[in-house]
Amino acid sequence: MSFKVAVVGATGNVGREMLNILEERGFPVSEVVALASRRSQGTEVSFGDRTLKVKTLDQYDFSDTDICIMSAGGNVSKEWSPKIGKQGCVVIDNSSAFRYDQDVPLIVPEVNPDAISLFARKNIIANPNCSTAQLVVALKPLHDFATIKRVVVATYQSVSGAGKEGMDELFTQTRAVFVADQVDVKKFTKRIAFNVIPHIDVFLDDGFTKEEWKMVAETKKMLDPKIKLTATCVRVPVFIGHSEAVNIEFEKPITADEARDILREAPGCQVLDKREDGGYITPLESAGEDATFISRIREDSTIDNGLSMWIVSDNLRKGAALNAVQIAELLVERGLIQPKKKAA
Ligand SMILES: NC(=O)c1ccc[n+]([C@@H]2O[C@H](COP(=O)([O-])OP(=O)(O)OC[C@H]3O[C@@H](n4cnc5c(N)ncnc54)[C@H](OP(=O)(O)O)[C@@H]3O)[C@@H](O)[C@H]2O)c1
Repeated sequence: MSFKVAVVGATGNVGREMLNILEERGFPVSEVVALASRRSQGTEVSFGDRTLKVKTLDQYDFSDTDICIMSAGGNVSKEWSPKIGKQGCVVIDNSSAFRYDQDVPLIVPEVNPDAISLFARKNIIANPNCSTAQLVVALKPLHDFATIKRVVVATYQSVSGAGKEGMDELFTQTRAVFVADQVDVKKFTKRIAFNVIPHIDVFLDDGFTKEEWKMVAETKKMLDPKIKLTATCVRVPVFIGHSEAVNIEFEKPITADEARDILREAPGCQVLDKREDGGYITPLESAGEDATFISRIREDSTIDNGLSMWIVSDNLRKGAALNAVQIAELLVERGLIQPKKKAA
């Protein structure tokens, strides 16, 4: 059984990673179609050792396509995902457009796979925000053991989370600093080279940013609405890999050793936690990896049943493309989708 898969946003950071991961994991494809805007028509992207010519989204007919992995921003998704879903093609959407819609499941397969059964309501499945995806992968097994009451998180998010333009801006500004050229600020609100910016997405009335709100809303939707979470989201001059300093308060006792043992066995998690120089993960090492890495696990004696830890993952993989492909795999494993065209 194999499926016709369209990747929308195939020329972008996440789209390219999507094509790599579909190929690496041997997802059963009969055909892969690369789609982007009119700007990219006719350009080429790689799929394994093949080259795909990019087609334009607004001229493509989805009627014989089985799965559409959508990674072209919220506005494109809002316009296109419902239309594509109505054509009987299941949309797995990377944007925030449908994440909070109660008729759209928001899925991290290691956390809430059973929620996928709702997908047929709109034929849309949402992929979470990159910072939330890696966080819930690590929180879920700890919540099952000791019930999380409250989480305080500070993120250190790489520029690739802001797309190709974000990576270009860090590169261009860094070069400009070294050659004593003028440093232009276009994509971010302040200079990102040799700096950190405590602002991702728009400000809300309560002073939090939309990125911070997303972490709260998505953790509640996927893991447990009773969990209290507060976040500070920060952009840092790192190309790939989001890091998080996380403090967790549990209802029941849990030691650092117990947490380490639980996380060692948990799906999608890798513990790298030696109390010595270099005995922890950094975002540079997470780039290109599938795991959510957990380091610096320690007890927080300032609260009852408290732990602190450091969680790092490749935001383009578990934070976006890998999770989307895992959702497609879940659809196939559970027999929730059949190819429209039978193999000859
Ligand atoms: N980066 C992350 O860590 C991350 C994590 C989770 C979710 N996401 C989400 O994934 C999406 C893409 O992010 P990205 O980092 O890959 O951005 P990106 O590198 O800027 O790429 C954007 C992609 O969208 C395409 N696109 C833009 N407008 C389009 C249109 N009107 N019709 C068809 N295609 C269009 C672009 O095509 P052209 O090349 O033709 O312009 C490009 O392929 C966003 O929704 C983002 O929120 C990103």
